[in-house]
Amino acid sequence: MDVHIRIANVEDVPEISYLGKKTFDQSFGYLFRDRSDLIEYLSSTFSIEKLTSSISKSYNLYWIAHYGDNAIGYAKIQLNSPSEFVKSEHSCKLQKNYILKEYLSRGIGAQLQKRICSEAIANDTDYIWLSVLKSNSKAIQFYEKNDYNIIGEHPFSIGKENFEFWVMGKYLK
Ligand SMILES: CC(C)(COP(=O)(O)OP(=O)(O)OC[C@H]1O[C@@H](n2cnc3c(N)ncnc32)[C@H](O)[C@@H]1OP(=O)(O)O)[C@@H](O)C(=O)NCCC(=O)NCCS
Repeated sequence: MDVHIRIANVEDVPEISYLGKKTFDQSFGYLFRDRSDLIEYLSSTFSIEKLTSSISKSYNLYWIAHYGDNAIGYAKIQLNSPSEFVKSEHSCKLQKNYILKEYLSRGIGAQLQKRICSEAIANDTDYIWLSVLKSNSKAIQFYEKNDYNIIGEHPFSIGKENFEFWVMGKYLK
């Protein structure tokens, strides 16, 4: 069975909300000593209301990946998103890039990247950047394989937890 990737719309919000919570918990849940910090973050970040508003904005693009009838991954970019580490004035930020644990390392992330980059180019973008947790070595390896380089770093806090991120980016061609 093939993986089907397409641009997501407001009707996909319930599936994106589910995927957002599930994949974040699978990837980073272990980092939270106090589970209530995590639960608060998940219910606010991936609420139906917040996602409905976000997906309706013309500068946000979401993708959803299905395997058969099952939603297994999603991604989001924000168009025209500058960074202190990026010179281009036509850059976008890859804000979400998540696949369910059971489907990792099957090339789905690479397929998703191709779609994201070609649609970013179609939207007059010439640079893509992202923040990735410094301890997320598998994702860093994935981005390096997909031609991203480290261009900066920054901290970020969720609840009582403080995290350190690499900023990675690449020119789109
Ligand atoms: C990052 C992510 C989208 C990549 O998607 P993917 O479908 O696993 O990636 P691909 O199959 O195309 O590429 C696999 C490569 O990525 C790296 N990789 C990423 N996650 C991996 C994992 N869990 N296990 C092994 N390799 C992994 C490896 O370099 C791997 O190469 P290899 O298969 O030759 O060893 C996906 O791993 C993911 O959703 N991870 C959890 C959430 C996350 O960390 N998102 C990024 C937040 S910034």
